[in-house]
Amino acid sequence: MSKRTFITFGVLVFVLAVVIPWLAFRGSGDANTGAEAVPAKLKEGQALFQTNCGRCHTLYAAGTTGNFGPDLDLLLAPTGPPEPGEAGEKQAKSTAERVLNAQREGVDSSMRGRMPPAILNPAQQKIVAEFVGAVAGEG
Ligand code: HEC
Repeated sequence: MSKRTFITFGVLVFVLAVVIPWLAFRGSGDANTGAEAVPAKLKEGQALFQTNCGRCHTLYAAGTTGNFGPDLDLLLAPTGPPEPGEAGEKQAKSTAERVLNAQREGVDSSMRGRMPPAILNPAQQKIVAEFVGAVAGEG
């Protein structure tokens, strides 16, 4: 084998054995694959949502894709661009209230399946509602 062929072959082996697997596997190994990174104060709500709501609801920020209930990004997305400052907080708050109410009372519009009330305890409901209020419509 000439030196040149040897080097070319070496480079090829390196690409196949090292670079391609590295490209394929980098970024995986994260326990929350698919979920968005959220501020620390929303983390608990995100985890609760993933475990208790995600099998029925799609929500981008939680990385869930359930489709028994409505896609909450579509249903709860703020109309128009995100509002800056206080207006944005107000918007998140009213969405959170709607989410809290849905969890407390359950939802049964008789149009699709129904959502059972009180899947979580009241304190957890509030934590999830704040999370969803803050993130719905992203992505
Ligand atoms: C067993 C499946 C299921 C689970 C689990 C579930 N939901 Fe639902 N959810 C539904 C269905 C179905 C609807 C729509 C019901 C209808 O339109 O009659 C719904 C509707 C909603 C709505 C819309 C209410 C509105 O104002 O229109 C919100 C918000 C919601 N769910 C939040 C949650 C949250 C938060 C959780 C986790 C605590 C959760 N859901 C868990 C099935 C589920």
